[in-house]
Amino acid sequence: MKKIITLGGSNSKSSINKQLAEYVGSTVSNVELRPIDLNEFEMPMYSIDIENEVGFSSSTKRLNELFENADGFLVSLAEHNGAYSAVFKNTLDWLSRIEAKVWRDKPMILMSASPGGRGGQSVLEIALTKFPRMGANIVGSMSFPSFYDNFKDKEIVTEELKTKLKELVVLFEKEI
Ligand SMILES: Cc1cc2nc3c(=O)[nH]c(=O)nc-3n(C[C@H](O)[C@H](O)[C@H](O)COP(=O)(O)O)c2cc1C
Repeated sequence: MKKIITLGGSNSKSSINKQLAEYVGSTVSNVELRPIDLNEFEMPMYSIDIENEVGFSSSTKRLNELFENADGFLVSLAEHNGAYSAVFKNTLDWLSRIEAKVWRDKPMILMSASPGGRGGQSVLEIALTKFPRMGANIVGSMSFPSFYDNFKDKEIVTEELKTKLKELVVLFEKEI
């Protein structure tokens, strides 16, 4: 069975992005899901000196191994001041030092969610430009606005958003 990583770009224990990525994962047929909680992969703040002196932490190596063995990625990014959250950027920086093609040319649905009306569109735009250079094969993307109005009891309650995500999942299923 194909192994799919779901990842919220946040270290919030109640991350809405983690919830969204896992929800989308639950709608993909016949896959083994590997939900990533960044709290389980704590890494020091990236530093060239730490890299030179002690190398990669076991967390970084463990996460890299999971990425290496994944067949696809469902990623939803938190937006902090218009960009990646610090924890996500730090994780990306460390992983990119082991393998520049962090996303291994594997299919990805790329999302962003926020409680606000733009749904993290700024961070989504950044990632849409940068992730392909890091080996992402982005089959589709969407920002998910006003999270708490549109997602209730572990379900998308707004038909238009649900339909759009279903279409992305169909494309993803064809690519993996
Ligand atoms: C430091 C910080 C900066 C934020 N900046 C933005 C922002 O630029 N745009 C936005 O839509 N939401 C912003 N938010 C609100 C986040 O979208 C909100 O906290 C959301 O729940 C983050 O996703 P998460 O639950 O997956 O961590 C910010 C929150 C924090 C803590």
